[in-house]
Amino acid sequence: MHATEQMARMRLVYAAAGLDEADLAADWFTQFQRWFDEAVAAGLQEPNAMVLATASRDGVVSGRTVLAKTVDAAGVVFYTNYESAKSRDIAENPSVAVTFPWYGLHRQVQVRGVASQVTRAETEAYWALRPRGSQIGAWASPQSAVIGSRAELDALQLAAEERFGGLDAAAPGAVPVPAPEHWGGWRIAPHTIEFWQGRTDRLHDRLRFRRIDGSLGPADDGRWVVERLAP
Ligand SMILES: Cc1cc2nc3c(=O)[nH]c(=O)nc-3n(C[C@H](O)[C@H](O)[C@H](O)COP(=O)(O)O)c2cc1C
Repeated sequence: MHATEQMARMRLVYAAAGLDEADLAADWFTQFQRWFDEAVAAGLQEPNAMVLATASRDGVVSGRTVLAKTVDAAGVVFYTNYESAKSRDIAENPSVAVTFPWYGLHRQVQVRGVASQVTRAETEAYWALRPRGSQIGAWASPQSAVIGSRAELDALQLAAEERFGGLDAAAPGAVPVPAPEHWGGWRIAPHTIEFWQGRTDRLHDRLRFRRIDGSLGPADDGRWVVERLAP
């Protein structure tokens, strides 16, 4: 049987299997890891892509996709430009939400929490893993600013390439590209994480981990409840 057909069948099985309290992991991040592994195994495209919602101080809401780079007890981390529109929103109002849209498995995971900047050491450790072209791009692009043309962007990229001695790290004159001060990670420390599993007749399963004390802290401290929500 062709792999695509197999995956289609698997999806039906998942939908039928549902999500029971008894099957849920003891903590949200272990449950997330299970579903993430299944999203990878199912061949979903960019399973770490998540839609990030932010709101400005005035309550103007924006959503856009970013890539999760770490998910663990401390929260969900993504990287971006600290001068971008999203980062300005977060600086004004750190309450954010992200949704992982795993449609191929009839699933979504919604996380709501409070964002704060990761340490410089964390940003630099992740920066070192990025390809040189992406590193240079982070220097070149004034993310979220209005620019005049594609040519303007290409000129900014060229200037950044020249500054660091070109795209080829092995070329004579090439120097390592440091992480810009205006670039880094945000960690979302969650207070609710909902696992949604599509079921037949629209009677979907929704199980939510919620911090009961309202404070933000390590997710393995036991101060969590699991609640079932009506679909
Ligand atoms: C699949 C996908 C992944 C993306 N990942 C990121 C990311 O990790 N970081 C980022 O800054 N922008 C990412 N983007 C671009 C953002 O969606 C957005 O255009 C950009 O961050 C500017 O958003 P802002 O103006 O609201 O700050 C991604 C877009 C897509 C479609």
